[in-house]
Amino acid sequence: MRGEGFTILVFLTLVVLKGFYFKRGSAATVTYDHRALVINGQRRVLLSGSIHYPRTTPDVWPEIIRKSKEGGLDVIETYVFWNYHEPVKGQYYFEGRFDLVRFVKTVQEAGLFVHLRIGPYACAEWNYGGFPFWLHLIPGIQFRTTNAPFKNEMELFLAKIVNMMKEQKLFASQGGPIILAQVENEYGNVEWAYGVSGELYVQWAAETAVGLNTTVPWVMCQQEDAPDPIINTCNGFYCDRFTPNSLTKPKMWTENYCGWFLAFGNAVPFRPVEDLAFSVARFFETGGTFQNYYMYFGGTNFGRTAGGPLVATSYDYDAPIDEYGFIRQPKWGHLRDLHNAIKQCQEYLVHSDPTYIPLGVHIEAHIYHKDSGGCAAFLANIDHTSDANVTFNGSSYYLPAWSVSILPDCKNVIFNTAKVVSQKNLGEFPHEHTTSAREHLIASSSSWFWYKEQVGIWSNNSFTASGLLEQINTTKDTSDYLWYTISIDVTEKLLPNNGEALLLLGSLGHAAMLFVNKKLIGFGYGNHEDASFTLMQKITLNRGNNTLDFLSMIVGLQNYGPWFDIAGAGIFSVVLGGLADAKEDLSISEWTYQVGTEGEYLGLDKTSLANSSLWTSGNSVPLNQSLIWYKTTFTAPEGNGPLALNLSTMGKGQAWVNGIGIGRYWSSYLSPTTGCSKHCDYRGPYDASKCLKNCGQPAQTLYHIPRSWVHPGENLLVLHEELGGDPSRISILTKTGQEVCAHISESDPAPVDSWKLNSQIKPMPEVRLICEQGWKITSINFASFGTPEGQCGKFSHGTCSGDNVLPIIQKACIGRESCSITVSTFDFGDPCPGVPKSLAVEALCSA
Ligand SMILES: *[C@@H]1O[C@H](CO)[C@@H](O)[C@H](O)[C@H]1NC(C)=O
Ligand SMILES: *[C@@H]1O[C@H](CO)[C@@H](O)[C@H](O)[C@H]1NC(C)=O
Ligand SMILES: *[C@@H]1O[C@H](CO)[C@@H](O)[C@H](O)[C@H]1NC(C)=O
Ligand SMILES: *[C@@H]1O[C@H](CO)[C@@H](O)[C@H](O)[C@H]1NC(C)=O
Ligand SMILES: *[C@@H]1O[C@H](CO)[C@@H](O)[C@H](O)[C@H]1NC(C)=O
Ligand SMILES: *[C@@H]1O[C@H](CO)[C@@H](O)[C@H](O)[C@H]1NC(C)=O
Ligand SMILES: *[C@@H]1O[C@H](CO)[C@@H](O)[C@H](O)[C@H]1NC(C)=O
Ligand SMILES: *[C@@H]1O[C@H](CO)[C@@H](O)[C@H](O)[C@H]1NC(C)=O
Ligand SMILES: *[C@@H]1O[C@H](CO)[C@@H](O)[C@H](O)[C@H]1NC(C)=O
Repeated sequence: MRGEGFTILVFLTLVVLKGFYFKRGSAATVTYDHRALVINGQRRVLLSGSIHYPRTTPDVWPEIIRKSKEGGLDVIETYVFWNYHEPVKGQYYFEGRFDLVRFVKTVQEAGLFVHLRIGPYACAEWNYGGFPFWLHLIPGIQFRTTNAPFKNEMELFLAKIVNMMKEQKLFASQGGPIILAQVENEYGNVEWAYGVSGELYVQWAAETAVGLNTTVPWVMCQQEDAPDPIINTCNGFYCDRFTPNSLTKPKMWTENYCGWFLAFGNAVPFRPVEDLAFSVARFFETGGTFQNYYMYFGGTNFGRTAGGPLVATSYDYDAPIDEYGFIRQPKWGHLRDLHNAIKQCQEYLVHSDPTYIPLGVHIEAHIYHKDSGGCAAFLANIDHTSDANVTFNGSSYYLPAWSVSILPDCKNVIFNTAKVVSQKNLGEFPHEHTTSAREHLIASSSSWFWYKEQVGIWSNNSFTASGLLEQINTTKDTSDYLWYTISIDVTEKLLPNNGEALLLLGSLGHAAMLFVNKKLIGFGYGNHEDASFTLMQKITLNRGNNTLDFLSMIVGLQNYGPWFDIAGAGIFSVVLGGLADAKEDLSISEWTYQVGTEGEYLGLDKTSLANSSLWTSGNSVPLNQSLIWYKTTFTAPEGNGPLALNLSTMGKGQAWVNGIGIGRYWSSYLSPTTGCSKHCDYRGPYDASKCLKNCGQPAQTLYHIPRSWVHPGENLLVLHEELGGDPSRISILTKTGQEVCAHISESDPAPVDSWKLNSQIKPMPEVRLICEQGWKITSINFASFGTPEGQCGKFSHGTCSGDNVLPIIQKACIGRESCSITVSTFDFGDPCPGVPKSLAVEALCSA
């Protein structure tokens, strides 16, 4: 039945936030007081998100930044990646993905601000924390402490970046978007390890930064002793209890983790949006005025950019915008609603400090007043399990456990962190098979070419040294690989029964393959938490000459911890046991070394070698081979969206598309089988191991290929496989649409932006659906008003179900990019009077 007052709203534009974006090109002063950053004399409530420019391609920057703005952000935060900007001392690089000026200008064009975290230490799960390796080779250098060679280089790079920004007029005082800058990064976490020199270094870093006259405030995060005027800011999963080190500084949060980074061998972390929203609301409730999501868009660690040990190629971070640049729902939408609710409180938030009113055990209210009258309130239930009803200002409010309600007029709840009313997306590209992803094999078994690498020394540029060398000092980060080789003469007398001996190997990490007489006999590896490992392996030796060849591998240079830069890697101990007389310690023998592998040296990843006769072909590609290179060509699936390469049948290695490194893969490393929870309870404090998925599976099987890296026709794919895999089953995926859904009840809150607080009319709840990528709603797969059951993707009609709901929804939505349907009996009639009703809709967005 259809009611009389048929009112279906179609909203064409996304939420336009109340608030004031800065005018492009006009100079602005940026200062601060104890409440907030002050821009042109006005205190500002600022929502910020981290996007690291090299973690996607420049053609995609505008789209990601637009989605960030539509999600309610005011500021984009990025680190600066020194090692790629100055690959050789004094030689700078700012092209392509590393075009910092273009990135800052792209943010400016979108009308957002920039927080430039120059560091130059970045951490960021980035190779060597962002330090160029040549720095390590400067005689007498010690990183991140009062050390003249280090300070000299750090100062040069800080000045280089600041001057570059000044020349391009990118600071706010010059009409640019940069309102904030950071020096160092989380140094307070490790300062203890550097003693008094660490304290002096903090003083020096602060003075040096301030001396660069950026005209914008500087911050130091996780730095309690940050000297004035530098603002010390908080990083963490919660920062409501944080207070800056001076009453003159505002309470700022520079890293609120939307999830956590992924490491090979680990399960996939995620953070429920209800808890993330809770942490943000608690922060603004308790006096915060600047909050940054780390990451708002995480992206990809292409090539060898990933940090270590063992940081994965995907840097998705469970962020509101996923690795591929698609909006992650309901995370993005729920946070957008939260931002909108906070912005509706802005005039109160910037006016006063909050007044705290205890409302019960684990129940808190914080109120912000204005002199001219009126107030905004945050009501929080911080209990882990118990929901509560509270009385506030004469009214009763229901507060779910671990949630915050926002009342911009001290009366109406326009948002609760635990009530998600934004659209959900069904299945996440490319991780779950949905009808809206297309997958095909990359090449048939017969169209692969291969090259089998030599085991051990492959060229005349090897060298010998006495004892086992530290790997990083030896390879100087020019390759992940170092060959350690030795030949041993086993006499008749020493040869034990059947030639069996025991090989004991100790390594600082991160992985190593063991060959005896050119045959693979073992593979050892560590993990992100501890990359070191030992191997004990029975081996068979021949009478006479035997060769031992060990390929030691690094999976991303360490990026975090005290003195992380000298942590070291590689094999440090080799002992042979079980020989007739005694065990033999080979650690101090003379070893022969070779940096890199033969295929790397030949340049097999390069497009110029695509037709080289080095490559072999045949009727079927060899499977399960160690140290082999594979090559094929493929045509990219149609469309203009990003691509995903499914490497689940491969072992460990690296991949290149048209000569560009798409990253390291390690599909054969399964995560522990325990520790995952299917439904992770968002209630109670979150930590990085609380919510995990994909237990017992590889951390990552799908690898991002940016669309701009492929072209029509044949594209070159090259793989360097170390352990053994099956390339014939590699497939490529693209996204052709998105199934979206929502389930909203009559008693749910109305969309935050539909509130007109001084009007008597209360807005009604709505189902709102939005497609991205310019897709349109092409079908309604389910619609029911009444008592529909089940979850998105598995809805079914309940005992009460109105007639004609489907045609109403179809009329409102089909052919549109977005639609909105009020959840009320006005539109649908009342199929079961007296019963609480809801509207469930599932739709398909596609081209
Ligand atoms: C910064 O400003 C001070 C005072 O105006 C000046 O002495 C100094 O040289 C400036 N430094 C730089 C790096 O511009
Ligand atoms: C809160 O109040 C509602 C309505 O009066 C009631 O149904 C519910 O049980 C109460 N919840 C708690 C936790 O007291
Ligand atoms: C109570 O709510 C009214 C609005 O209905 C508001 O004007 C008043 O300031 C509030 N008082 C307190 C103490 O929150
Ligand atoms: C990746 O390929 C494997 C092996 O063919 C297959 O089982 C898996 O479903 C694929 N994954 C996706 C997301 O397509
Ligand atoms: C090493 O090999 C390269 C190319 O294979 C050759 O040009 C060079 O002369 C060799 N060097 C020595 C010292 O044998
Ligand atoms: C043992 O074999 C290796 C590789 O064939 C060779 O380089 C080495 O000279 C040999 N050593 C002895 C003692 O014969
Ligand atoms: C690497 O070499 C530097 C000096 O060149 C030395 O100080 C450092 O201890 C070495 N690192 C390791 C892990 O051996
Ligand atoms: C390799 O050969 C193909 C087919 O003959 C050709 O299209 C391509 O341009 C060649 N590539 C290079 C790098 O020479
Ligand atoms: C691959 O080869 C290794 C030994 O080289 C063997 O242990 C393993 O079972 C093989 N795997 C498959 C899938 O054939």
